[in-house]
Amino acid sequence: MAMDYIIEKLGGRIAFGGDYNPEQWPEEIWKHDVALMKEAGVNLVSVGIFSWALLEPEEGRYEFGWLDRALDLLYTNGISVDLANASASPPPWFSRKYPDSLPVDADGVRQSYGSRQAFAACSPDYRRAAAALTTAIVQRYAGHPAVVMWHVHNEYGCHNQPDFGPHAERGFQEWLQRRYGNLEALNKAWGTAFWSQHYYDWAEILPPRRSGTWVNPTQQLDFARFSSDALLECFNAEADIIRAHSKHPVTTNFMGFNMGLNAPVDYWRWSGHMDVVSNDHYLIAADERNFQELAMTADLTRGWAQGKPWLLMEHSTSAVNWQPRNIAKAPGEMLRNSLQHVARGTDGVLFFQWRASRAGAEKFHSGLVPHAGRDSKVWREVVELGRALESISEVAGSTVKAEACIIHDTDARWGTELDSHPSEDARNLPETRRWHDALYRAGVTTDIRQSTDDLSGYKLVIAPMLYLVTDEAAAKLHEYVEAGGTLVITYFSGIVDQKDHIRMDPVNGGGYPGAFSELLGVSMEEFFPLRSGDAVGLSRFGSGTVWSELGKATGAEVLATFDDGGSPAVTRRAGSTGRGAAYYVATSLGSAGLAELLQLLCPDAGVEPVLGIQPPEDVEIVRRSNGAKDWTFVINHSAQNVQVPLDGVELLSGTATGGTLNLTAGGVAVVAAPA
Ligand code: GAL
Repeated sequence: MAMDYIIEKLGGRIAFGGDYNPEQWPEEIWKHDVALMKEAGVNLVSVGIFSWALLEPEEGRYEFGWLDRALDLLYTNGISVDLANASASPPPWFSRKYPDSLPVDADGVRQSYGSRQAFAACSPDYRRAAAALTTAIVQRYAGHPAVVMWHVHNEYGCHNQPDFGPHAERGFQEWLQRRYGNLEALNKAWGTAFWSQHYYDWAEILPPRRSGTWVNPTQQLDFARFSSDALLECFNAEADIIRAHSKHPVTTNFMGFNMGLNAPVDYWRWSGHMDVVSNDHYLIAADERNFQELAMTADLTRGWAQGKPWLLMEHSTSAVNWQPRNIAKAPGEMLRNSLQHVARGTDGVLFFQWRASRAGAEKFHSGLVPHAGRDSKVWREVVELGRALESISEVAGSTVKAEACIIHDTDARWGTELDSHPSEDARNLPETRRWHDALYRAGVTTDIRQSTDDLSGYKLVIAPMLYLVTDEAAAKLHEYVEAGGTLVITYFSGIVDQKDHIRMDPVNGGGYPGAFSELLGVSMEEFFPLRSGDAVGLSRFGSGTVWSELGKATGAEVLATFDDGGSPAVTRRAGSTGRGAAYYVATSLGSAGLAELLQLLCPDAGVEPVLGIQPPEDVEIVRRSNGAKDWTFVINHSAQNVQVPLDGVELLSGTATGGTLNLTAGGVAVVAAPA
């Protein structure tokens, strides 16, 4: 059961709508809401996400009247509901009654209620109350004909992760006992011989609260893993209650790449627990290539969904309210954003939120219905988007095929975000972005997966800064090359094991990158990180930033050297079976250097851009297919009109291209053709 269940319930149409918060408005407004929803073609709304305080005015007493009436109204108007279990934000009465359910920060400061998500993941009172609320809601609405899907909580960990309080302390100790079994194993794993950190009693172990200087890095990593698992227990407990009463799919909305060490939620681990993978994405206004960041996030979401269609649960029609400067979307930008997500695998385009609020902290956040009402750019574009989605309904259920893949492992990312490292610039996420951007510019569709997934179908696999790698994952990457794959590994990869211990041989030595040195045919002896803003010249591929190294090739062909010192900067080692290759890139290449390298790599791996040609600058070309039919999405983010050789019927306009697609600046096209 997955997205196809929802699409069937929606009569074969792509999901379109967003968070609907009728409780923020007088009931006489609701009939206008549904009339507008019908005008725009909205068919799915998420209801009740932040309704706990109104649904349960005091413990165990529920008031469902308004929700009954809202759901009935939506149903009679043909609008389906993704119903929340409302556990996202406990009410003030709850926090006042159970003050120790509130989360505590690394300095030991207990957070207050008054915003949202004010609870500690391990609080027994929160868990009990959330379960009771979930039971009451699902028992009442499992049979309601409007409901087609369940929305558990909202953006787990967005504001309260991690919690360092007493509940987390106990939970962490128990989690560690399950992981390590005995203290000797824990002491070994955490390397506690260092700085006199040896533990003699489980009760001595704390969350990594603020200390004089760096807290044990393995403790930090384990705490991130534990914190993610603690929230996942919350999700699973609530999802299990729902599944016991209802057959509709259950999801919770993820937050794209916002899953770092400071707010740890390991979506790779979580995604297997979802019936439908859903994600929220917001453009960062200050990011000049934010459309590429959107594409990368959509590719990641498709990875979590194991290549199957997923659901865009939230994005915005225009400005948000939480950035320093909240830039409104330019005309046409919302359509481009929405169809970018569809091109990359969503079968739904939902927004936060239906009607822009009148009160509260999000009153300056855009909605489908803006403060200005119907006579507005936003509303006209919402109606246009509804029509556009209707005209491409046939795309639902199809998938995206990628020949290239980027590895983005949670532990590797968290590992590079630890303190006391060679350079604070050596971080997994920015390096991942550089590689994705290079492939994006080259027009190569890219999946994002974790190293333990099945990679055998990819011709090219890129592992940017795979700092932490398990023996199992390292062996899989070796096998991938042996089987004829082309693998790229960058600097600061394969450095530590899952305990964050350096991969090395204390007797015989052996160079970096420990787990991959043999596979790559290089042996590096010392890191030479660069000063901020500095670049190091290379004999080819321009220059590098962030990082350089001292070392030698031991079996690889050297493609480029560092000008400074002459050590290898880019190398290639042919697979031992004569097929496949393993490349090493020992610095952070600029976009010109990456483009030059891809001109070598892609033919070597046999990877092609979607139309066999590099797309015009800032034009995105992605294809979905169901095996019988292809849909090629062409999205023009540039200020130039462009022409692309592409034959078929353009579905938004309903006209045949006649072999060449002419696309205006900022325009979007979806061209259907037999596969
Ligand atoms: C999301 C959240 C929504 C809303 C939105 C504003 O993070 O799930 O409830 O706050 O951001 O952009």
